Amino acid sequence: MKSNQKFKPCDLVIYGALGDLSTRKLLISLYRLEKSELIEPETRIIGIDRHALEEGGFVKVARKSLQSYLNETIDDEVWQRYSARMQYLMIDLTQLDQYKQLNSVIDSKSRVLVNYLAVAPFLFKNICQGLDKAKILTRESRVVMEKPIGNDLKSNREINDAVAEVFNEDQVFRIDHYLGKETVLNLLALRFANSIFTTNWNHNTIDHIQITVGEEVGIEGRWEYFDKTGQLRDMLQNHLLQILTFITMEPPASLEAESIHSEKIKVLKALRPITADNVEEVTVRGQYTAGYMKGQAVPGYTEEEGANKESTTESFVAVRVDIDNWRWAGVPIYLRTGKRMQNKRTEIVVYFKRLPHNIFKDSYRELPPNKLIIHLQPKEGVEIEMLNKVPGIGGSITLQQNKLDLSFSETFKNSPFFGGYERLILEAMRGDPTLFLSRQEIEQAWAWVDSIQDAWARRKIAPKPYSAGSWGPVASVALLARDGRAWEE
Ligand code: BG6
Repeated sequence: MKSNQKFKPCDLVIYGALGDLSTRKLLISLYRLEKSELIEPETRIIGIDRHALEEGGFVKVARKSLQSYLNETIDDEVWQRYSARMQYLMIDLTQLDQYKQLNSVIDSKSRVLVNYLAVAPFLFKNICQGLDKAKILTRESRVVMEKPIGNDLKSNREINDAVAEVFNEDQVFRIDHYLGKETVLNLLALRFANSIFTTNWNHNTIDHIQITVGEEVGIEGRWEYFDKTGQLRDMLQNHLLQILTFITMEPPASLEAESIHSEKIKVLKALRPITADNVEEVTVRGQYTAGYMKGQAVPGYTEEEGANKESTTESFVAVRVDIDNWRWAGVPIYLRTGKRMQNKRTEIVVYFKRLPHNIFKDSYRELPPNKLIIHLQPKEGVEIEMLNKVPGIGGSITLQQNKLDLSFSETFKNSPFFGGYERLILEAMRGDPTLFLSRQEIEQAWAWVDSIQDAWARRKIAPKPYSAGSWGPVASVALLARDGRAWEE
């Protein structure tokens, strides 16, 4: 990761500038970067979409999106600076001839051209070809791609191949917004800057690990996309596997991109394949039915707007993952993620092994294990559950389970907290690939996930129902119960 050296300004071109991702996330994140004075003064933001806008129309769109999603008052001075960077071009991205319009705006001599593809993946190839045809790319130009990059290994490769015809791998920045989250990055610090964890991070001391990404949201008008995708591909293939690699990879030699990428790939390669032979024992598919979220009635998955009533797409998935390597032999990692869960909660719980002998039988028949709980969102922090003596004299030693609690918002009161997108947009503008996914890494993740999808199809495994507002189907409880364990609640 690069330090605060001087960076070259950019022409940041957002394709799909009027779309959901741009108006909900990118324009907000760029404003916050502007406010923190992290954008080079000469950098420009060029919005591209297929709709005609009146003069100053893009600036109005940006203002409206800040008013809707910023959650703070817009600072006039910051807004003046920010809006002065903006331009807009109407381009039909399917028409290769139209890309030459960019020539009148882009200045690839004094600025780096950063192409942010905030559009559906079927347009990625067109955009690359259009840019190539317009002859505006230089060796310095970059392309930033949002997930989903395809729907399986094959389609992912096709997209990557098309992009590779125009950009070299070191010019390609594949985003997983979880890698921009403060707490995900803190996993590097936690694991590789604290000797108590580095020396205890293996099968000798760890019993198992749980990773939960629970979402409150349902499908939110995204039926079209989600029903073809499902929670396995929408969340587990990327976000959960990324968290898993951070928590289980070997120590990288440095913070350089190549070092981190190669350690992550090793983990992905060591994931035990899930096939038709074991899929029923190690995975659970679920689909929510009508229920209550915080007291409000909500419809089931197949009753959502635009839903196919017969859909068998999963909105919940739980998987027992085994990593077949020296460090993690015999330590299962349980992953679960679902829409319409009881609440939004992303956390990693590391369960340490129980002690071999208990001398405190008056307090506990069996001593509970130590736990390291890493809260990624919404509450950010780290907790360690441990046993302590209850103060007092005259009786036997009585134990109680307590927490060492490091809350980030309390501890770092004066530090600004940024969302994942701020960090990743900044890194893309600065040209640091560390927090982006390499082609090999993403292909490896797809290969593993494809085999689960394939095994579900072969075994005709339909999703099990769960009520909206719960923590998934009972089968998910059984997944751990079979191993004598339970989800952290
Ligand atoms: C996106 C998925 O990648 O991540 C969405 O496509 C999901 O379905 C979202 O809701 C969750 O992101 P976060 O940052 O809210 O956990």
